[in-house]
Amino acid sequence: MFSNNNNSNKYEGVIKRYWEYLPVSEKTPIVTLYEGNTPLIEAKSLQQKFLPHSNIKIYLKCEGFNPTGSFKDRGMTLAISKAKEENAEAVICASTGNTAASAAAYAARAGLKCVVLVPSRAIALGKLSQALIHGSRVIAIEGNFDVALELVREIVSRYPITLVNSINPYRIEGQKTASFEIIDALGRVPDYQFMPVGNAGNITAYWKGYKEYVSRNKQLGEKKLPRMMGFQAAGAAPIVLGHPVENPETVATAIRIGKPASWEKAVAARDESGGVIDTVTDDEILEAYYLLASLEGIFVEPASAASVAGLIKYVRAGYFAEVSERGDRVDIVCILTGHGLKDPDIAISTAEKIYKIKHVPPRIEEIRKYI
Ligand code: F0G
Repeated sequence: MFSNNNNSNKYEGVIKRYWEYLPVSEKTPIVTLYEGNTPLIEAKSLQQKFLPHSNIKIYLKCEGFNPTGSFKDRGMTLAISKAKEENAEAVICASTGNTAASAAAYAARAGLKCVVLVPSRAIALGKLSQALIHGSRVIAIEGNFDVALELVREIVSRYPITLVNSINPYRIEGQKTASFEIIDALGRVPDYQFMPVGNAGNITAYWKGYKEYVSRNKQLGEKKLPRMMGFQAAGAAPIVLGHPVENPETVATAIRIGKPASWEKAVAARDESGGVIDTVTDDEILEAYYLLASLEGIFVEPASAASVAGLIKYVRAGYFAEVSERGDRVDIVCILTGHGLKDPDIAISTAEKIYKIKHVPPRIEEIRKYI
């Protein structure tokens, strides 16, 4: 008959799991799609290829396994729950796509109206399909993400509508739970974290999460915190350049951002942790994108591959040579922020450069030519 499932242990999303770390109370109506609890998978083939015979382990935090296919759901469960608690009727965001998809889904679940501003013709197909099907009002702006975000800030200053971009502090609070999960899964604090940087909310959230979890869980010891290694696309790298980028360009549309809202906080995370914020080219992003899919079986969207592209770049530059000689255990976590199905166009065009679909008549002898 039925297995003895214990319902009281059922996973019910990040708010319930990490309740005491979040700004919630019994009055908060929890709007959840059971986000979080994403796998931390060891990347054995990448390790073998790039760091053979070393004491370094590479782990992939698969945030594309969240309900709407990206890490945004962690922050959105909290932002939408708090909007509901505060009797909001509508929410709004600017987005390169994933925030829009997540806001649309959680707003639908909460019964809130949702408006999303996206850069015209510059968001991936999967994300657009999500925002539309969840019933949000999708407004395409003739301009990039930075323009859309400025408009949204102006709109919320004039009208009673709640902003759910990551400048809403509840977004950061929810997103910081990913650091908690990484520590819980490893049983220790990782040594390095590689991740993409766009609007810089996520690096801000992870750093906040690591600091809080370590300071509240003394059994973790006085161990140093991870070095935060953030990567921007070379054509959209304002933090690396030290000035805003007027016309950001990259294949990784999710991080095509020229003026990040959490700029200073990202710089603080870098400096406090002894990490870096650096660039990866589109070619490096696409190489990592293909390697993840073909060697590890993990399909991510291009922006997510910026983390692994950054790691490969640093391995090739000899950054870990000294670390692997020391012999002590070193854990590297790469954050894979969004699912590959978000952007099917780029997958097909990338893969077709390697293996083109063959069109053949329905006969064995024709098919055998290609096996
Ligand atoms: N990876 C993916 C898949 C993203 O969608 C984003 C941001 C990032 C990385 C960068 O995270 O902005 O916190 O530094 N996407 C936002 C959006 C901008 O609108 O969906 P960040």
